[in-house]
This record gives sequence, structure tokens and C-alpha cells, in this order.
Amino acid sequence: MIIKPHEFKSSHLLTESDVTPESIYNDRRKFMKQGMFALAGGLMASMSPSLWAKKLDYAKTAYGKQDSLTPEEAVTTYNNFYELGTGKDDPANNAAQLKTEGWTIEVEGHAEKTGKFDLQDIIKNQQLEERIYRLRCVEAWSMVIPWVGFSLADMLKQFKPTSKAKYVEFISIHDPKNLKAQGSLFSTIDWPYREGLRMDEAMNELSFMATGLYGKTLPNQNGAPIRLVVPWKYGFKSIKSIVKIRFVEEMPATTWNDIASNEYGFYANVNPQVDHPRWSQASERRLPTSFFNIKKIPTQMFNGYGEQVAYMYKGMDLKRFY
Ligand code: MTE
Repeated sequence: MIIKPHEFKSSHLLTESDVTPESIYNDRRKFMKQGMFALAGGLMASMSPSLWAKKLDYAKTAYGKQDSLTPEEAVTTYNNFYELGTGKDDPANNAAQLKTEGWTIEVEGHAEKTGKFDLQDIIKNQQLEERIYRLRCVEAWSMVIPWVGFSLADMLKQFKPTSKAKYVEFISIHDPKNLKAQGSLFSTIDWPYREGLRMDEAMNELSFMATGLYGKTLPNQNGAPIRLVVPWKYGFKSIKSIVKIRFVEEMPATTWNDIASNEYGFYANVNPQVDHPRWSQASERRLPTSFFNIKKIPTQMFNGYGEQVAYMYKGMDLKRFY
């Protein structure tokens, strides 16, 4: 459970020193001091890392200016991040399980520059910018999020992919020691979480690597320290906490497609005409909603980003390639 600072009540004032011998009093003071440090440590570990987020320096852009933002509280407490649990509030509550210190990204496959790189070295040449994007989950809810990050194409170009690279595969952290869901015998997911894009999709101007949201570093529950955001596709394509990128020739296997290929396709473009077997995709709930206020809005083809992305699917039967 998250303990919020305002819920933390101080104990009674101590006046015992008047009646206790000095040596015992000093020992107790030492003990209490240690106890307070332990308590403070526990408190820090249990608080949501979003409280410790660092402010970022970034440029504003025109992306998404017309949309009203989903409140930060909803963006950071209603999440899908199965490594941190399957409930919507599990990722925020279990955020401390994700260890992000000394993050590296391994680059493999058909590129001139491959190897293991410090995240800081990968992002140091990138100009951070804010892009407000709509995120549409396959579960028929959506949010509007002000991401901070940089273009995926700019990042990938650093590695000089060769003409053999037809797809890009992304792989999330695998740390079963700390991420309890990954260590569980009952997990139905074959970890680590994997996703992929066709090369032209990866190079599209909208494909984005987020390192922050709401002007601050990414909270763990949203995929710290770096995640993908592909706003014209269902949210499950936007893979979190990426540790590996592979330039490959064949279409890579992806987590949800492996679990149920009839439900989750590789392309997963937002499409109100192709229903999921369990959910109509014609409309969506724009979060936050309440019992009295379920804001249902019609879902748009490509989540409303057709102008920037429809050309990539010309001539493709999107009912077949869902
Ligand atoms: N990435 C990883 N590694 N693990 C996950 O469980 N869930 C996906 C996607 N990325 C997921 C993931 C799903 S289903 C969605 S809808 C989005 O993350 C949710 O992103 P958000 O929690 O920041 O809104």
C-alpha cells in the first residue's frame, strides 16, 4: 500500500528522559534514530516513484494541442504493465520492483553500429520535445497524454540499419528476481514482453520514444526509463522499459500475438470496423470516467492519425492484417 506523507502521523512527544537513567536514555535515542531512518527508508520505497520524478527540459510542439489532457493522476494510476501485476492499480503500487539504475540498451541485428549502450549515451544527442498523443487501449479505454521524448526514427538512425533490416523488434526488461510477476509460476506470459514494428512504421514521424510525461521523467508504472509510443496502434504495441532493440529481416514474434493470435494481430492499427472478439472497437471510454460519467466517444480509424499513417497500408486488407 502506498503511504502518503500527509497520512504519516508523528508519535507523542517524549518526556521520558526526566525519569530514565542517562545511559538507557541514550541507547533508546540511538535505537529510535535508527528506527526513524528505517521507517523513512520504508516510506520512500513504498511511495510512488512519480513523487521522485525529475523535471525535464524540453521543447513544446503542436502535436495534440486540440485534445484535453487526461489528468496526471489517472495517467499514472490506471496502467497496464503486467510485469508489475495485472490489476490496473498494481503497476503504481508495485512500481518500486522496477529497478532502473544504470540502464543500458542492447542493439543487435542488421545495423552498422551494434552493442550495449548506456541509455544516457543514446539520448544525449536527442532534443527532448513534448508531444500530446491519444493512447487507445484494445480494452476500449483511451487517454490523452503529454509525453516527453524524441522521434524513434532519429534514435534508430544512430545505429545505421542496413537494407536487410525490414522490421524492428523491441524487448522489455527481464528481471524475475525483482519483478514478482516474472518470477511467478502462474504467469501465462512468456517473458520478456516483446513487440515489433515494420521498418517504415518505425521510421514514421509519429513513432516516439518517451522518457517522460507531464514534463517529468517517466514514472516506473508508465515504463521507465524509456518506452515506445505508437499512437495510431492499440496500446499494447507501446512497449515499456525497453532493454533490447533488434533489426531483423522477418516479422518478429510479439507477446500478445503469441498468446492469442486471433485476438491481437501484429499490426494492431486502431480500427473501429474490426472488433476484438470480446470488445466492440467502435467506441471508447475516454478516461477518467466515473459511475455517473462514462464519456463514450466514437473511435477513429488509426486513432485519428490517418493523415500521417494511412499511406503505409495502401492496398492492404486491414480486416485480414489486423
Ligand atoms: N509493456 C510491457 N513491457 N508490459 C506490458 O504489460 N502493456 C501494454 C503497453 N506496454 C505492457 C507494455 C498495454 S496493454 C498498454 S494499453 C500500454 O502499455 C499502457 O500504457 P500506460 O500504462 O502507460 O497507459
